Amino acid sequence: MTLRYEFTQQAITEQGFQAEICLTNTGERPVKLGCLYFSLARILQPADVTGGELRARDGDLHAIAFDSTLEPGDELRCQLNNPRDRMVKFTDWPYGVYAESPLGELLPMTIQEPPVNWRLSPLAGHSREALQELAVVHTVVPQPQSIALGAQQFTRPVTLGWKEPPAALKVTSADLAAWSEVLAEFTPVVAVSASGWPVSFVQQDMASGSYRLQVTAQGGVIQTADGAGVHAALASLVQWLAGGQVQEVVIEDVPRFGYRGLHLDVVRHFVPVDQVCKVLRLAALYKLNQFHWHLTDDEAWRLEIRAYPALTEQTAVRGRGRTMPPQMGTGDTDHGGFYTQDEVRQVVALANSLGINVMPEIDVPGHARALLRALPELQEPADESVYRSVQHYSDNVLNPALPATWTVLQTILDEVMELFPSPDIHLGSDEVPVGVWQRSPAAIDKAQSLGLADVTALHGWFMRGLEDHLLQRGRRAAGWEEITVGQAVSRRTTVFSWQGVEAGQKAAALGYPVVMTPAQYCYLDLSYNRDQAEPGYYWAGETDLAKAYGYEPLADWSGDGVGTNLVRGLQACVWSELLAESYQLEYMLLPRLLAVAERAWSSADVRDMDDFVRRCLTHRALWQRAGWYYRAEALGW
Ligand code: ACM
Repeated sequence: MTLRYEFTQQAITEQGFQAEICLTNTGERPVKLGCLYFSLARILQPADVTGGELRARDGDLHAIAFDSTLEPGDELRCQLNNPRDRMVKFTDWPYGVYAESPLGELLPMTIQEPPVNWRLSPLAGHSREALQELAVVHTVVPQPQSIALGAQQFTRPVTLGWKEPPAALKVTSADLAAWSEVLAEFTPVVAVSASGWPVSFVQQDMASGSYRLQVTAQGGVIQTADGAGVHAALASLVQWLAGGQVQEVVIEDVPRFGYRGLHLDVVRHFVPVDQVCKVLRLAALYKLNQFHWHLTDDEAWRLEIRAYPALTEQTAVRGRGRTMPPQMGTGDTDHGGFYTQDEVRQVVALANSLGINVMPEIDVPGHARALLRALPELQEPADESVYRSVQHYSDNVLNPALPATWTVLQTILDEVMELFPSPDIHLGSDEVPVGVWQRSPAAIDKAQSLGLADVTALHGWFMRGLEDHLLQRGRRAAGWEEITVGQAVSRRTTVFSWQGVEAGQKAAALGYPVVMTPAQYCYLDLSYNRDQAEPGYYWAGETDLAKAYGYEPLADWSGDGVGTNLVRGLQACVWSELLAESYQLEYMLLPRLLAVAERAWSSADVRDMDDFVRRCLTHRALWQRAGWYYRAEALGW
């Protein structure tokens, strides 16, 4: 017995959508159908469904009950009419579809998948032969301050030998080994210790992160003041050695911003540790120096915490019948994973060797459903507050009034600080839904005893308390723009401006250091364009390469530019609701990551889009060599 599932979008109205689901019994025996399940971000209400009954909804997981028997050849049609939310793209369609019998048994079903068009690079199974080798790759991204080409070209060396760096530069053999890996990944050059084309290091007074790199047939010479400069110079060197012929050159360079970040959501879909390391090597190649690791959220807790093994035991894998239900299209297949503390140490060490700080994010008090499910003692049974988060959860916010919340979080943060040397620990603070704590006896009491205006003020009080815990241990807090709620956190907390540029400008005017990551330009999970078949979110519009490249973080600053001196830098963010596979993540990153990287590194007057695209095009050779997928349609970048 087999069912066939088909979804037809019938109309996109100004405000909503109409669609039909058709289930057909293509087998030879009757099928007893109980419920059909799917993920759908544009959530349905009971009145939206005809021809079936919306029996349950949990986050984006919908259950439509049919409770009927389909004879062979029978069709069952169910209409969806959602007048509230538009559904424009194929990636908006229901995903992770499965069906159960009335007894809860999984029913075999063939699914007509939506015609999403991933315009993927031809990678030929990541074979090195697929590389279309360029004669000379004399382009660097981000664009350096100056590139003076020499007269000669020479054949790319087969091997490279690192000379001992001066101790004052604090470059370790592990650092050079990590860069050797990057070199071997993106170019055919192999680094060997003793012989080969020599690369030497000279310490010289200059601004932190700046460098001078000279390349001749005789070798490479890096002059810099510090480790940050070494990492930046090596990134340029790897790029320069990618072509078959190497042009002699002197590159002089200086970073614009000290914070150049990449954020990765590994919760909505798990990203295995090898892929995380691959992302880190790419980030280093483009001179990013901060990895913001979004480790916890509603759908999972992905970091081993020794004090609370239940966190990962209970929530790292989601699926049918598990503590964490299917979400975001994972359907009837178990999905997940977590990072052991040993793996985290490996990631942190690799990042450190490549000049990247790893800033972990423990997202609180919202986005904490997994934490609350794993540790039910953090729930207050008498709390009758009614709320719904952006991802449609009504049980995902911690209660700051419960002593257990503090004990657990302080214990978790202590372990996090052991694992991550990062000066900033990101505490989330985003998207705390309206209505939370309103009918929590504990919260009402606590707000009164603290003399707060109402329970909503507990949010700022909570963030400040956690910040103090970090400060007492020599660390600083960071958070999404909502962390400035009530201005309770100190001016040492870095604010990540994500919904647009305004929050960052306001926070900086109030004296907070800010990192600009406005979704419109920097959220690389947004769709490249409006084409229905092009994958991605579009809640903040679409973002092609030109739009990402066109962002100028210090332009159009309100209040006469007050606070621009507090902009620490820029960050690209990737959220993984739609990115189940590594190629999908790679497609979103390349080429757009280079735009954010160049904005973060190069001076503000480097703005020639044609030149930038030309350089990106030559970099396809590096990506292909390293087995990176990218969006293939260059003209549509
Ligand atoms: C966010 O995108 N919720 C920070």
